[in-house]
Amino acid sequence: MGKHIIDITLSETKKQKPLSDQLEFGRVFTDHMFIADYTEGQGWGGHRIVPYAPIALDPAATVFHYGQSVFEGMKAYVGKDGKVLLFRPEENMRRMNLSCDRLCMPQFTEQSAIEALEELLVIDKEWIPTAEGTSLYIRPYMIATEPYLGVAPARKYQFVIILSPVGSYYKEGIHPVKILVEDDYVRAVAGGTGMAKTAGNYASGLRAQEIADRKGYSQVLWLDGVERKYIEEVGSMNVFFKINGEVITPALNGSILEGITRKSIIQLLKHWDIPVIERKISVEEIYEANRAGTLEEAFGTGTAAVVSPIGELNWRDEKLVVNNGDIGSLSEKLYNELTGIQYGKIADPFDWVVEVVEPAKA
Ligand code: COI
Repeated sequence: MGKHIIDITLSETKKQKPLSDQLEFGRVFTDHMFIADYTEGQGWGGHRIVPYAPIALDPAATVFHYGQSVFEGMKAYVGKDGKVLLFRPEENMRRMNLSCDRLCMPQFTEQSAIEALEELLVIDKEWIPTAEGTSLYIRPYMIATEPYLGVAPARKYQFVIILSPVGSYYKEGIHPVKILVEDDYVRAVAGGTGMAKTAGNYASGLRAQEIADRKGYSQVLWLDGVERKYIEEVGSMNVFFKINGEVITPALNGSILEGITRKSIIQLLKHWDIPVIERKISVEEIYEANRAGTLEEAFGTGTAAVVSPIGELNWRDEKLVVNNGDIGSLSEKLYNELTGIQYGKIADPFDWVVEVVEPAKA
């Protein structure tokens, strides 16, 4: 497939940028966005960067009715010498295509998506915040746009990339978060859409999230949908537990999202010769380890959350305080190493970081 020319329309006005110390997660958006359209039989076309603005869709667009919608989360950073850096962007685009496949949506080639993103980043570069802990969050997504009320894969789609300068995902920052173990609701089952990054997975989690929030917890920890016993993930993060010197994370089973931060943390731990194992782990095992004094740390990982220490779990009203509610030394080391690599501050032995270069003009 040939390279698509991206048509560029720059915004006539520039929005006011938020102050770095007032950044929240995902509330403000940059001046431009990327869009491309798909029509069955013709493929992708109309690649364009335009001023950030509402999108007009037919009220019958299938995304509103049957939820064909996938998304990704990535970040851009300003590194040394003002270079714009991305972290493993090809992994996100590969995963987006896996999500598309699960939802019967067309693929957008990894390379075209990264080229579009790089072009957009060059245009909105000034929006990348530079204060400690801040970055430019990137949200690529695809939606079904064909007006049709029959239940069938749509024949028209739109692929969009928007950008949002962000601070920490949690208001706690890098401080330990409190997580409620969810016993009533489930997020996904093997054979469902748990491994895909699709809107419905998040919509179905909102009720439990709302209840957790009311009880003073930041997020819920999902258990498996069959036995309600084994730990799966937190709504916006994968999870890791350090027990007796060994780091354990739930094995991918078809219902857990294959996090890119998760994968990177596993690689880092192996690189450091710290024992790490992917296996089934029950919530009961965590409570037993805590009673035995062998539960050392717990943390979540995700693009938005980076490495987020877990300070407290609550399962069936039994509270479990991890590491006295403090940041564990391994969580902190992983956070520092990963963000150090992402911001280009330390060596990147894995070649994870990609430098954004201004696309050559034809
Ligand atoms: C991310 O970590 O980028 C995610 O997509 C989680 C999100 C739902 C905030």
